[in-house]
Amino acid sequence: KRNETTTRIAHVFRGTFVHSTPQTAVEILHNSVLGVDDEGKIAFIDKDQNVTRLSKLWGFETSDIKQLGQYEFLMPGMVDTHIHASQYSYSGTALDLPLLEWLNTYTFPVEARYKDLDFANNIYTKVVRRTLKNGTTTACYFATIHTDASLLLGELADKFGQRALVGKVCMDCNSEVPRYKESSSDCKRETDRFIKELLKKEYPNVKPVVTPRFAPSCSAALLSDLGEIANNTKLHIQSHISENKEELKLVKRLFPDCRSYTDVYLKYNLLTDRTVMAHGCYLTDEELKIFHETGSAISHCPNSNISICSGMLDVRNVLNHKVKLGLGTDVAGGYSPSILDAMRRTLDTSKALTIQDPQHQTLTFEEVFRLATLGGSEALSLDDQIGNFEVGKDFDALRVNVCIPDGPIDAFPGEGPKVILEKFLNLGDDRNITEVYVAGRQVVPFPDT
Ligand code: GUN
Ligand code: FE
Repeated sequence: KRNETTTRIAHVFRGTFVHSTPQTAVEILHNSVLGVDDEGKIAFIDKDQNVTRLSKLWGFETSDIKQLGQYEFLMPGMVDTHIHASQYSYSGTALDLPLLEWLNTYTFPVEARYKDLDFANNIYTKVVRRTLKNGTTTACYFATIHTDASLLLGELADKFGQRALVGKVCMDCNSEVPRYKESSSDCKRETDRFIKELLKKEYPNVKPVVTPRFAPSCSAALLSDLGEIANNTKLHIQSHISENKEELKLVKRLFPDCRSYTDVYLKYNLLTDRTVMAHGCYLTDEELKIFHETGSAISHCPNSNISICSGMLDVRNVLNHKVKLGLGTDVAGGYSPSILDAMRRTLDTSKALTIQDPQHQTLTFEEVFRLATLGGSEALSLDDQIGNFEVGKDFDALRVNVCIPDGPIDAFPGEGPKVILEKFLNLGDDRNITEVYVAGRQVVPFPDT
């Protein structure tokens, strides 16, 4: 066990820290000090009146302390629980078709291009850098069906220092783009190769995730193989569920023996406590109970849900069922690569539900802040490692300054960290995120800029 006699301190911050706990959506630590050790873990959090004692105890110089200003705070890094790195190239366009047409018209032809590693390298570099700048310290990525390009995405996340789960996409049927699918046997073999080669790299913060695209893209044989691989390796699983009504009808037709969409994944052992399923707009209470019982999580992707007219997830109902839930950008069904945007769209959707039904209990900005950080870590079963500021967890954090010259925030109606946080969540952008840390390593500003 590490302690003050054996541990070297790499960073000490002093000021205001804002984070969530399971009991409190927003907990504000005023006038505090936080130390990060040379393994990137939080060594101590204490009141700043104890700083002299702490510096002797832990052996750091008080002159090395990073002092936060009046309009600054530290918060946990944000978690994007669902993003298609490969779709970043056309984000902000192609939002005029519903899901199934959108996939065949825009998505599959673009994803087919990732056979070309130069193309992949260009886009994957951009998406990792962009999301890091936006404060996404952990991303759960879909790549494409191409194993080598998917391995490259893992390499780039490691190089730029982002924590990532990376999935080589599996799909063996119902693609109208003939060059964009695999045979079931290739899919299984390539998934095995992807997992083996990515694990062999021993990247400290990048792991493979078993990735059936969604039930309509996968044969029963493929779903069964992937369930078995996930069970043998104990790896994460990601997919899509119950996003759009036409998709629901298609799943009923393709899997007539299953009681529900959830039952399809349950049947093939794809619902585990390491599973994250995107969307879930039309899940019934009965299905949510299965999510709760299996420990599976939902990634709420509100920008995408609205942008391609899929539906509106009732997050309050999901939380009432004690189902783990994080936020996702779902680039490029969602046009924004920012979890700040996902927080705002989450509030918008919740407010739209309240307009429809005044009995609906609207989410608060504090709750949405928790979903973007601690909730995301729970959804990815990483909450023993990241998600908030607890001694022993990895230091994944953002230094936020709401008051920067020519920045997006001008006026303050009142003082105090709660107001400053609310201003940042509603009006802030990457200019306000002045430093980003993952596992104690400063990754933004980029070393080369
Ligand atoms: N369902 C299956 N594939 C996809 C995808 O790429 N994006 C979205 N939003 N839903 C999907
Ligand atoms: Fe998606």
